[in-house]
Amino acid sequence: MVEAKKEVKKAFLNKYAIGSFNICNLETFQAVFNASKETNSPVFLSTSNTSIDYMGLENIKNLAEGLKRTKVILHLDHGSYKNAVACINKGYDSVMFDASRLSLKKNIMLTKKVVDYAHENNVIVEGEVGVLEKDGLTNPGEAEDFAEQTGVDLLAVSVGNLHGYYKYMPVLDFKRLLEIKQVVKTPLVLHGASGLNDETIKTAIRHGIVKINIDTELRWAFTKSVRDFLRRNSMNKFNNKSFDIRNYLGEARKSFERKVVDKIRLFQS
Ligand code: G3H
Ligand code: 13P
Ligand code: ZN
Repeated sequence: MVEAKKEVKKAFLNKYAIGSFNICNLETFQAVFNASKETNSPVFLSTSNTSIDYMGLENIKNLAEGLKRTKVILHLDHGSYKNAVACINKGYDSVMFDASRLSLKKNIMLTKKVVDYAHENNVIVEGEVGVLEKDGLTNPGEAEDFAEQTGVDLLAVSVGNLHGYYKYMPVLDFKRLLEIKQVVKTPLVLHGASGLNDETIKTAIRHGIVKINIDTELRWAFTKSVRDFLRRNSMNKFNNKSFDIRNYLGEARKSFERKVVDKIRLFQS
């Protein structure tokens, strides 16, 4: 694995973004790994609390053994306190601890605890100030206090970005993003990037975004691929290919991988 801190610094100085891609099974794990290899780019291989429950932390850890000497950064996404500690103990490279729904004071206090423990173990930490809702935009002054008092390595912000597909193409609050960037020296993270157009992504990178999270678009690509395959091939007991799991999951893995490659190229890493 690459040293996460160095990769983030490189992206910050050279003004590109590292993609963070959510995985939930072996095929999506392989797709992100292959895309990183194909593009020779660093990636955050992102596992949420829910995906950890689904896959099992021990299984993820065992899969990650094979990632040494690759450019894959094993990352916890929107982690609980319990999972942040567990992932640090299991050898993750990076954890996001998300206490953004608590008061600023509590968010700072708990995040600082995670940062102290993570840094002792050479793990980087992402925190979040503001919540991904219309009325949850990040306050630049609060972001400044949070970054200074916690010592996080990455800071996720809310500037009009939302999780899931957008009903209407959002206009991100770039003025706010610049105000945050002026007072926060920590590299910034954009969540909810599925469905944002290329121009918006490029502008976000120019405005200081260094890590970009994508989940929904990848799930869509994977599921669409399975559905298309099953629609094209009706099940037939005397045709093994029509119900060979590897056929439809293999196609889905390819679609997921192509999407990750496209995003990595867009992020210019
Ligand atoms: O931002 C949340 C991620 O998309 C993870 O979602 O909890 O369904 O895995 P999940
Ligand atoms: P999307 O599902 O909207 O791409 O958001 C992903 C994300 O922010 C993961 O933390
Ligand atoms: Zn997110």
